[in-house]
Amino acid sequence: MAVRPITQIGAPVLRQRARELTHAELASPEIQALIDDLIDTMHDARGAGLAAPQVGASVRIAVIEVPADPPHPYRPAIPLTVLVNPVLTPVDDERFAHAEGCLSVPVLRGLVPRAARVRVQAWDRHGAAIDEIVVGLTAATYQHEIDHLDGVLFVDRADPRTLATMAEFERHQLPEVIAAARAVVARLGG
Ligand code: NI
Repeated sequence: MAVRPITQIGAPVLRQRARELTHAELASPEIQALIDDLIDTMHDARGAGLAAPQVGASVRIAVIEVPADPPHPYRPAIPLTVLVNPVLTPVDDERFAHAEGCLSVPVLRGLVPRAARVRVQAWDRHGAAIDEIVVGLTAATYQHEIDHLDGVLFVDRADPRTLATMAEFERHQLPEVIAAARAVVARLGG
């Protein structure tokens, strides 16, 4: 297990469509080690999620975890989740504006329209089927990570007029973003 360098915006691997894995590939020591390293790297960077292209591997794996006592306590906890070959389907047309940053896009924050409820179909790290519906901030986190597998970064989807440096975001936008996030959690339940 190891922390790997995180690829940064401009690296071609972040703009490629990552490929699906077979069950046999998923069971291989190389891919299992990649999953362990994704988890270690996410923890080291204190991220809410990390996708394989962010450590230079163009395969369809993402890891997600929001601890119960994260830096942003308004965010609902998400248990450690490994998604392999995930497919997301919005459950309805509702969208909300979600404040995002990315370990591959230093400094910037921005508001991204995200589906309020999505169905997630994937495998876990052992190849067992996952089929669940996630909502609210959790659904937005899933959408951000799975976008990485299609070569999409949050800045592609953000309203450009909402882009802010981390310092200016914390200075000017944070209180209203926290209030909006709490409202989303209260309304959508996640
Ligand atoms: Ni990201």
